[in-house]
Amino acid sequence: MKRPLAMIVGTGHAVPKKILTNSDIAAMGIETTDEWIVERTGIRQRYVAGEGESLTSLSAEAARAAMKVAGVTAPELDIIVLGTASPDRLLPSTAVEVQAAIGATRAAAFDISAACSGWVYGMQIAEGLMALGGAETVLVLGAETLTRITNWKDRNTCVLFGDGAGATVVKRSTKGRGILSAYTRSDGTLADLLHRPAGGALRPVTPEVLADGSNCIAMAGREVFKNAVRSMADACDRALDGAKLAASDIDLLIPHQANIRIIEATAKHAGMPMEKVYVNVDRYGNTSAASIPIALDEALRAGRIKEGMTVMFVAFGAGFTWGSLVVRF
Ligand code: COA
Repeated sequence: MKRPLAMIVGTGHAVPKKILTNSDIAAMGIETTDEWIVERTGIRQRYVAGEGESLTSLSAEAARAAMKVAGVTAPELDIIVLGTASPDRLLPSTAVEVQAAIGATRAAAFDISAACSGWVYGMQIAEGLMALGGAETVLVLGAETLTRITNWKDRNTCVLFGDGAGATVVKRSTKGRGILSAYTRSDGTLADLLHRPAGGALRPVTPEVLADGSNCIAMAGREVFKNAVRSMADACDRALDGAKLAASDIDLLIPHQANIRIIEATAKHAGMPMEKVYVNVDRYGNTSAASIPIALDEALRAGRIKEGMTVMFVAFGAGFTWGSLVVRF
């Protein structure tokens, strides 16, 4: 495959109406403070899906915004790939519900399960399907309603996550623009460090599971933190090597937005000053698969990315999964 083959031609994002601040969480009776959350994570608020909002509705809204920018109509989409860890239903995929909602009548639609790396994985799947020749226009979504699978009694996790959707329309490359390099890895030996212990087919939901919250996200925070820093550093190195570029060639780094300390450590490893790093974790919290495409859409709309610029994306999530992309705009 000769790169660049696939380029980003439109982005969009959507978030729920309701904002939950750190003080709101403390006021819910959870033993935490705004000060602790800001200092340890950089998060100040997050969006929380409410009545009438779903992964499908947020994804469809983000998709429509991205298609508008791309000048693409829904029936033109060949593939819809949706990265998520919080689908509306376990069967069928949320991608097919998005297909129906936007009227993408010709598309093949499916979800992928790569947690916070979902959008980076999805972009590589889009590129691969285009290389095979069967797809010209692909919609890649990263979307989450994580607050619905969060244990609101566990202060170690409930302060971290937020909801939202980010969408990207991908088409065949022109003028040397598009994905210059891509890298993905997983390590399933560490699966239990960040997971939902129950609620799947192995341990279905029972009254006991609901009572102890084991259908919700459970995490060994310190171990996840260490692995995130290590893996995102690896992903930066591999993406740069693959593109035969140095950190100084990168105009903007868009890392997964989990924690400001992880972002700073990643930037430091990559040798990139924080002025060249996009940060919005303070406003969204960790929106998992949605975090990078939301940040990308914001950065494009704010004029932080202009034609000809080179952007590096780096993700890490449950699995563990990690990966990166270097993209010329
Ligand atoms: N408010 C107040 N105190 C809290 C708290 C909260 N929301 N959550 C945890 N604490 C307490 C802990 O109980 C612990 O108390 P103890 O020392 O009395 O046992 C103390 O703070 C320190 O906990 P620790 O886990 O060591 O803190 P930390 O510095 O590692 O920060 C995280 C915790 C979760 C913020 C951090 O580990 C982290 O960000 N991990 C990665 C999470 C992540 O990004 N996951 C998704 C990856 S895609």
